[in-house]
Amino acid sequence: MLSTKLEEALNNQMNNEFYAEFEYLSMAAYFHDMNLDGIANYFHVQAQEEHFHAMKIYSFINNKGGKIVLKAIKAPAADFESPIGVFKMALDHEMLVTKSINKLMDVAIKENDHAVNSFLRWYVDEQVEEESLATKSISRMKITGGKGEGLLILDQEFAQRSFIPPKGE
Ligand SMILES: [Fe+2]
Ligand SMILES: [Fe+2]
Repeated sequence: MLSTKLEEALNNQMNNEFYAEFEYLSMAAYFHDMNLDGIANYFHVQAQEEHFHAMKIYSFINNKGGKIVLKAIKAPAADFESPIGVFKMALDHEMLVTKSINKLMDVAIKENDHAVNSFLRWYVDEQVEEESLATKSISRMKITGGKGEGLLILDQEFAQRSFIPPKGE
């Protein structure tokens, strides 16, 4: 069984992940609007990953006999200052998610809930990947200056990305 506190915290994290899906979709739309469909694809894949993160929590709450509570998802930003600005925003967001995962882990440790602790380890590792990818993408975007031929090359590169669910899921 899940404690009330952990059940609530997990539901909140599930909502955070759905919000991240919306945010990345909004970023994808920004690049689609600029006809940079490859970079849009990069963010669309991010959005699919976030959906996966949310659904993984959904299944976990269900498996633990908890109550899944879906709440309203706030609207993401619809306007962005520049292509590089979008990537910086993505990194800022991932850093916030890392903080909230860590807080959730603190509660699991405090409550001695080994199952939640074990479940959250996947997210702890995933956030290392997420921050690393966002940081790398920012530096590659900076090389292009956010415009011109360099941007088109990155657009082609990011067009190759696709969502692959992790093994065993
Ligand atoms: Fe996530
Ligand atoms: Fe993420």
